[in-house]
Amino acid sequence: MANDRPLVAAKGVARRDALRGTVLLHPTDFTLRAEERVAITGPSGSGKSVFLRTLALLDPCDAGVVTWRGERIERAGIPSYRRRVAYIAQRPAMLDGTVEDNLRYPYTLKTYRDARFDRDAAARLAHAAGRSADFLDKLASELSGGEAQIAAFVRVLQLAPDVLLLDEPTASLDPASVRAIEALVGAWFDGSDGSHGEQARACIWVSHDPEQARRVATRHLAMSAGTLTENAEAA
Ligand SMILES: Nc1ncnc2c1ncn2[C@@H]1O[C@H](COP(=O)(O)OP(=O)(O)OP(=O)(O)O)[C@@H](O)[C@H]1O
Ligand SMILES: [Mg+2]
Repeated sequence: MANDRPLVAAKGVARRDALRGTVLLHPTDFTLRAEERVAITGPSGSGKSVFLRTLALLDPCDAGVVTWRGERIERAGIPSYRRRVAYIAQRPAMLDGTVEDNLRYPYTLKTYRDARFDRDAAARLAHAAGRSADFLDKLASELSGGEAQIAAFVRVLQLAPDVLLLDEPTASLDPASVRAIEALVGAWFDGSDGSHGEQARACIWVSHDPEQARRVATRHLAMSAGTLTENAEAA
């Protein structure tokens, strides 16, 4: 059964502050199975971003391993892992130029040499997030915080990742855009966003909002001082 197959797993992953030696993430075991939608809540500075960045292999772990479908990821495999497992930052970086320039950028990378930018598909995603047709022509430097976040979502979702690691992705958005992003992620999750819907998908959503956590996730975890625990109560 698809649900028994872990997509991403972490065994004993840990992070320390390299300068002070303080623990950022205590040794953590975690399994993300196909079709799972996980929410992580916890106070500011508790290590939620550290954990997601560790799973995304953006920061090196000091101990433990991260696996993809049971396989340890070698250094050479990191780019294709990141293609499958996409991290969306709290404050996404935008390049100079238009939104479309930003959307085209990933396709210039070696990892995506077999894929091609599809303006219509990107426009459909932007539309689903409540943006008008001229959104792709806007200058990235002139986007509001919320619009930049939507552009970052379109940039990732157009690439049809299997796993989304969402780090407070709606923190800077108005309520209507929050719902639009939630709907966009929902459509990606069930494959109705037009991308190949055969793949098993899963996501982790870090949120400060317990209401949102209930809306977007079926499994709830809590992070506290670098320790991740299952939070059955929230579910
Ligand atoms: N690369 C790093 N080197 C040293 N310390 C770090 C590093 N990254 C994060 N930290 C520290 O680790 C702790 C946890 O940070 P993290 O960003 O994971 O918090 P968070 O739970 O995501 O908080 P928030 O809800 O505010 O985003 C903080 O004290 C932070 O200063
Ligand atoms: Mg954070």
